[in-house]
Amino acid sequence: MYYFVPKHAGRPVYSYRLSIVHFWALSFMYMWVGTHHLHWTAIPDWTSTLAATFSIMLLLPSWGGMINGIMTLSGAWDKLRTDPVMRFMIVALSFYGMSTYEGPLISLKDVNALSHYTDWTVGHVHSGALGWVAMISFGSLYHMIPKLWNTQIYSVRLVNLHFWLATIGVLLYNTAMWISGIMQGLMWRAFDDFGNLQYSFVESVAAMHPFYAMRAIGGMFFLSGMVLMAYNCYMTIRQGQRAEQAAPATAVASA
Ligand code: HEM
Repeated sequence: MYYFVPKHAGRPVYSYRLSIVHFWALSFMYMWVGTHHLHWTAIPDWTSTLAATFSIMLLLPSWGGMINGIMTLSGAWDKLRTDPVMRFMIVALSFYGMSTYEGPLISLKDVNALSHYTDWTVGHVHSGALGWVAMISFGSLYHMIPKLWNTQIYSVRLVNLHFWLATIGVLLYNTAMWISGIMQGLMWRAFDDFGNLQYSFVESVAAMHPFYAMRAIGGMFFLSGMVLMAYNCYMTIRQGQRAEQAAPATAVASA
C-alpha cells in the first residue's frame, strides 16, 4: 500500500510520520491480541480481557494507516473516473478500514459470544482477505506488470470488468456471511419457554441455505474476475515480449 498507492497516484505518501507510527503500533499491538481467537475457552479470563483491550486500541493505528492511504490519493480523485486500477486501490483501503473496524467489534467478549463459530467470523476474514488484501494486490499487479514488460495494459476494459466483478462479488459474499452469521448465532442461543433450545442444528443449517447460495454467487463473481485478470496479464506480457523482440529488428532496419 505504501509503495503502489503513491506510485500509481503519482503523489507522495501523505504522512511518513503516520506511516511509521502505523508500522510500529501494529507490530507492538498485534502480538497482544492473539487471545481474541480463544474467547470463552479454557484460558484465564484476564488474557481475554487483555486481548480485547489491545484489539480496541488497534483500531487507531489501523485507521491511521487507512486515512494515510486515502489522503495519499487525494488530489488524484479525478483519476477514479477513468482509472480502474485506482478504483481497486480505494476499494481495498475502504475494506481495510471496514475489517479493522469489525475486528475490534467482534473482539469484545460479549459480541464474540454471538459471532464465534458462526459465519460472521467467515465474513470478517473475507472482508480482510478478499476486500483488502486481494484488491490491493490486484491493483498493484495491474500497476506493476505493464511496467515490468515495458508496455501498456492489454485491455483497460477488462480491468474495469474485473473491478466490478470483484467488488460486487465481495459485497455479495460478505453480506451473505454477515446475515447468516448473526442468524446462526441467534438461533443457536435461542431458548423456548421451557428452557430447551428452540432450534435444532439442522434447522439452523436449513435457514442458511439462501445465504450460502448468495455466497456461492459472490465467490463465482470474484473468481471469474481473477480469471479475466490472468488472461489480461498474460496478454499484456505477450504484448510486451513481442514489442521487445520487434525492437532490435526495427533498429537494424532503420540503421
Ligand atoms: C484491528 C484489526 C483487527 C482486529 C482487532 C481483528 C480481530 C479479530 C477477531 C476478534 C476475530 C475473531 C476470532 C473468533 O471469534 O474466532 C478475527 C478473526 C480473523 N481475522 Fe481479524 N481482526 C482485525 C483485522 C483483520 C484483517 C485486516 C484481516 C485480514 C487481512 C483479518 C483476518 C482474520 C482472520 C483470517 C480471522 C479468522 C481466524 C480463524 O480462523 O478463526 N483480521 N479477527
